[in-house]
Amino acid sequence: MGFGHVSRALLRQLISKETEMRRKYDVRWRLTGIASRRIGWIAEPDGLNPIAALNNHFPSHAQPARNVREWLERAKADVLFEATSLNVETGQPAIDHVAAALETGAHAIIANKGPLVHAYRELTALAREKGRKFLFESTVMDGVPIFSLFPLGLPATDLRGFSGVLNSTSNVVLTEIEKGRSFDEGVNRAQTLGIAEIDPAQDVDGWDAAVKVATLATVLMGVPTRVEQVQRTGIRELSEEKIRSVRAAGMRYKLVCRAERRGDGVDCRVSPELLLLSDPMAGLEGTSSAIRFDLDVFGLSLVEHNPSVDATGYGLLADFLRVAQP
Ligand SMILES: NC(=O)c1ccc[n+]([C@@H]2O[C@H](COP(=O)([O-])OP(=O)(O)OC[C@H]3O[C@@H](n4cnc5c(N)ncnc54)[C@H](OP(=O)(O)O)[C@@H]3O)[C@@H](O)[C@H]2O)c1
Repeated sequence: MGFGHVSRALLRQLISKETEMRRKYDVRWRLTGIASRRIGWIAEPDGLNPIAALNNHFPSHAQPARNVREWLERAKADVLFEATSLNVETGQPAIDHVAAALETGAHAIIANKGPLVHAYRELTALAREKGRKFLFESTVMDGVPIFSLFPLGLPATDLRGFSGVLNSTSNVVLTEIEKGRSFDEGVNRAQTLGIAEIDPAQDVDGWDAAVKVATLATVLMGVPTRVEQVQRTGIRELSEEKIRSVRAAGMRYKLVCRAERRGDGVDCRVSPELLLLSDPMAGLEGTSSAIRFDLDVFGLSLVEHNPSVDATGYGLLADFLRVAQP
């Protein structure tokens, strides 16, 4: 669902890892449906040609469906990948897409964070009731196994908070401005890389980062958190001169995400911070991102170095292998 940068990256990953998936995991796949507002609802249970689809050639005989439920049923979908644009206010129509998938017996894997911040509990409960999986590893830091770490990799730990640089577009814009380019050129660069939201204001005004913080607080810290509860300032108000002059003085601005447990709640914040170069977050270039988890027993940092949109495609593929294997 949605056939933009992320879905295409997933398809490329599925094609390039097809043999490995078959040999190592005994997993085979078939692309039986593609849908978007402009493409319509294409369903072909015998399988669409993935290379042709990547080249925007869709079979004329494929029966179009009228809505998501009919589309999933016609496609005989075992797994839905939801990669439509983020709707910060409501999470829709992605929530309906995920619910329809689970109700028609398909697993649901999302790159779109909307369903997580607006309907995590409901969709998780629905998935449990239907005996299907609802996975979302690629929503934060692409293919980095953040959600998979908890609780299995870190049993009996208490996550007290986290901090990180989680919006790649803002980081690209700041890095480009430091190199002497303008704010708009930085945004264009992120768009060319296929990492910006369809409305890049969602990145530079801190919405995407705030959604990620709310998601992590909700899922990993167990405190339902709405986006409005995250104090949010983006990078738009930073002047280009200021960004360059602090860089020359051995410091860097980064759009930093923070969350800290306070009693039964979590204090959440996204704002530009001036960091000394000795701070590990200050070293993040371009699309790179990082997170530090503050656990009761130790601190743990993960850094993703210069990912392209293929890393998001990989995150979806990794979730696919998780659902395809018992
Ligand atoms: N790009 C990244 O690096 C990245 C990383 C992690 C997560 N994500 C998330 O992944 C999602 C997709 O990102 P993207 O970069 O692939 O965006 P994109 O290139 O803009 O593609 C979005 C796709 O969704 C379709 N779409 C949008 N609204 C729709 C609707 N209401 N119903 C049906 N289809 C709809 C669009 O096609 P039509 O216009 O034809 O409908 C388009 O095919 C977003 O939620 C984003 O936050 C992206």
